[in-house]
Amino acid sequence: MRKILIVGNWKMHLNASQASLLVHRLQERIKIYRDIEVVLAPSMLTLQPLSLQIDRRKFRLAAQNAYFRDEGPFTGEVSFNMLRDIVHYVIIGHSERRQLFHDNLATVRDKMAAAVRNEIVPILCVGETQQEREDKETKQVLHDQLMTALSNLTAAEVADVVIAYEPIWAIGQVTAKPGQVAEAVTYVRGYVRDVFGEKVAKNIRILYGGDVAPEVVHGLLDVPGVDGFLVGHGSLNYETFAAIVEATHRWQRNNNGEMAPVKGE
Ligand code: 13P
Repeated sequence: MRKILIVGNWKMHLNASQASLLVHRLQERIKIYRDIEVVLAPSMLTLQPLSLQIDRRKFRLAAQNAYFRDEGPFTGEVSFNMLRDIVHYVIIGHSERRQLFHDNLATVRDKMAAAVRNEIVPILCVGETQQEREDKETKQVLHDQLMTALSNLTAAEVADVVIAYEPIWAIGQVTAKPGQVAEAVTYVRGYVRDVFGEKVAKNIRILYGGDVAPEVVHGLLDVPGVDGFLVGHGSLNYETFAAIVEATHRWQRNNNGEMAPVKGE
């Protein structure tokens, strides 16, 4: 069974003392849940001190980005190799990186391979713009993003990858409707099944991201194949983030710990 994963992407927020305070507050609020994995993705600067502060039974750390070369003359960059003892996960291909920092399909592919090579689990972000949705190109966009990102990985490697469906029009704006999430998540898992086989498709975790709040957690977890969330601004407020984790726990309890069945399982 796939374990539910909730990732807080702090983006470029919180200095070292603010980050430390947020972890302190989260640690007070969030209990240890056997069936829920909670991951924090603070800024690169605070990963090291937070790795010493976090209660590892409650939280794991993720980097928000890294460079695909292991070392060399790349001023200003941090490699996956440098992060490997500090983080468990790394977010790759977030739309903000694709749009603002020119991470293209090939860069994302190389970062995926670098993460796997350094034994860091990639959280691959995919998703369409508003215009692409209106033009009915969502599946094509997802296809292209998945095809390149996963192209240098073996089936066994892909089985451990996390994929986050983050429609760009939803981020910081509006939560996608369960039906829209269902369609995209079904497509993503179907792609993985077609290319890497049934076993990999069953194993891979698919998250939803885009304006996730405590009130929408149950509706989204009811969507077959949604295995958790990538949370942006909601993860900066300890009450909101703790409430998202708590709502997830309640949903799990109501469903006897059973994930909604995925079509074909
Ligand atoms: P929001 O939750 O602020 O919409 O951000 C989503 C996101 O981009 C997480 O990576």
